[in-house]
Amino acid sequence: MGGQSNGTPELGIVYIALTCTYDGHAMHMRSFTVEALSSRPFFNVINYGAKADGRTDISQALTNAWKDGCASNVGSTVLIPKGTYFLGPVLLVGPCRNQIELRVEGTVVAPMDPAAFKSVNWVGFRYINGLTISGGGTFDGKGQIAWTKNDCHLNSHCQQYPVNLRFDFLNNTLVKDITSLNSKNFHMNVYSCQGMTMQNLKIIAPGNSPNTDGIHIGVSSFITITHSVIGTGDDCISLGPGSRNITITNVFCGPGHGISVGSLGKYPNEEDVVGITVRDCILSGTSNGVRIKTWPSSPPGLASDLTFENIIMKNVYNPVVVDQEYCPYSKCDKKGPSLVKLKNIKLKNIRGTSSSNVVANIVGSRVVPCELEIGDINLLYYGKDGSGATSICSNAKVVLSGRQNPPTCKF
Ligand SMILES: *[C@@H]1O[C@H](CO)[C@@H](O)[C@H](O)[C@H]1NC(C)=O
Ligand SMILES: *[C@@H]1O[C@H](CO)[C@@H](O)[C@H](O)[C@H]1NC(C)=O
Repeated sequence: MGGQSNGTPELGIVYIALTCTYDGHAMHMRSFTVEALSSRPFFNVINYGAKADGRTDISQALTNAWKDGCASNVGSTVLIPKGTYFLGPVLLVGPCRNQIELRVEGTVVAPMDPAAFKSVNWVGFRYINGLTISGGGTFDGKGQIAWTKNDCHLNSHCQQYPVNLRFDFLNNTLVKDITSLNSKNFHMNVYSCQGMTMQNLKIIAPGNSPNTDGIHIGVSSFITITHSVIGTGDDCISLGPGSRNITITNVFCGPGHGISVGSLGKYPNEEDVVGITVRDCILSGTSNGVRIKTWPSSPPGLASDLTFENIIMKNVYNPVVVDQEYCPYSKCDKKGPSLVKLKNIKLKNIRGTSSSNVVANIVGSRVVPCELEIGDINLLYYGKDGSGATSICSNAKVVLSGRQNPPTCKF
């Protein structure tokens, strides 16, 4: 172990459980259990030389505290206490001997200058089973300079800037009670992870900051995102190839580009997207609400069993979008169809207001038409132009149920 007061035992809670039975004559005490004082070791970065002065880079102190926490043979906590800390790029790597928690109570601030980064992550986590990130603190990515240089919305070969939090090859992860602020690029990127709960997160960047997607998931399964507020300059949540069994509930999104599946079909042999549920969410002032996007002239692929249910739209420009001719740079070959099959897509109980008159815009593939079930939809448009809400629907096989206002995919 490093500094002298590391691994300090914390006084744990004493659990006392009593179970009594009454047999008509006497009370018998059946069991009496006292759990021993827990001695979860804490590895406080202050004890590894970190200074809460907002200037001194704590990346080495954090790395050293992490190494000791990771080597602990009981579950441990690496602590960044209250205060403001300057943190350069850091990679926190497992496998660890036991479960490990990174508790961030303070604010960690990234270098503003993108040149300070040699890779595409600021804080990276890799090869860990049983990681918890918690503490109520903030990761401030200081993206203001990177945003002025970022042209990824115009150019697919653009320079990539660092992601605030990058999760690679993790199992059984809990990320809760933290804020991600002003990332230079995506806020959180989840890749090759299994079993992850993300809850009570705040993810914030200005509505005009490029590529600041809130959470992007790819090649990962059993991920839940819940009770979170996401407002950024790009997708609040985007689900790329290989996303499976993902549940998104009670997310407030806005500003931003909405909650998206895709884009899919950019590369050959992409993994399928299967089993996505987006439920009980609010989208407010976003450019899109719920969206599925696949590239034209694409190789074959599949996205199936996607459910969007009980979604409230507040002044959303395009509340419902299925776009199989997605072409963000106007440079793609639109001649060929998308060969990504969209199957068992459910849109149910979607209601609220739109800021454009096309409230549902469904453009399927002419070779593999998308298969949708559309339930109750009630989307209103109060435009000054006096036109009513309308919908577009092509190359879709649709099963309707309930009521649709406006009529959606009715032929
Ligand atoms: C995560 O689980 C997968 C599949 O069970 C396993 O191959 C991998 O080694 C695990 N990774 C870690 C870091 O535990
Ligand atoms: C994963 O999603 C698929 C597709 O929706 C579903 O059939 C399956 O039951 C899900 N698995 C679990 C364990 O929930």
